[in-house]
Amino acid sequence: MYENDIASVLISEEEIKQRTTELAQSVAKRYPVGAPEGDLLLIGVLKGAIFFMTDFARALPIPTQMEFMAVSSYGSSTSSSGVVRILKDLDKDIAGRHVLIVEDIIDSGLTLSWLMRNLSQRNPASLEVVTLLRKPDAVKIDVDVADVGFDIPNEFVVGYGLDYDERYRDLPYIGTLHPKVYSS
Ligand code: XMP
Ligand code: MG
Repeated sequence: MYENDIASVLISEEEIKQRTTELAQSVAKRYPVGAPEGDLLLIGVLKGAIFFMTDFARALPIPTQMEFMAVSSYGSSTSSSGVVRILKDLDKDIAGRHVLIVEDIIDSGLTLSWLMRNLSQRNPASLEVVTLLRKPDAVKIDVDVADVGFDIPNEFVVGYGLDYDERYRDLPYIGTLHPKVYSS
């Protein structure tokens, strides 16, 4: 489909699937079923996390509910600035709920630390993060992310929800782009 634009497959469809199952098993152990706070509330960060969110939710062996937020971080198309704007806020109050943010990728970590601050001010019972991907720079941030799918090199990646200029989200795997795509 995009064969001419993809330089390499970094993480295959099968690897994503297997790791998602592992993450779901380990995350589920931390949340008691039938808690007074209600079902675990997954908050997916649009649009990048869509595929991970839906696969992760189905792999979780506990009941969950789903909400979505869309944020945009000002900056170039391939790096973020840390100034975050809410494009779509939650529809529901999360006070007293166990909340798990479902992220596609943590790069500088600026978007996530902003989001954690914002959501913690809404007084959830607990607030944690699961991310499919994490880049090396993310170690600089002081957000404690317990569950990471894959640590990847500091390269721009696309696929499985991740885009370059809104393209390539529909690839079933995570890949890197040919430099010619950026320069055209
Ligand atoms: P920060 O730096 O705030 O960035 O952790 C997180 C957001 O930046 C986007 N991002 C990427 N998007 N391929 C993408 O398609 C990448 O390699 C990449 N690195 C960062 C993404 O929106 C993420 O939520
Ligand atoms: Mg994102």
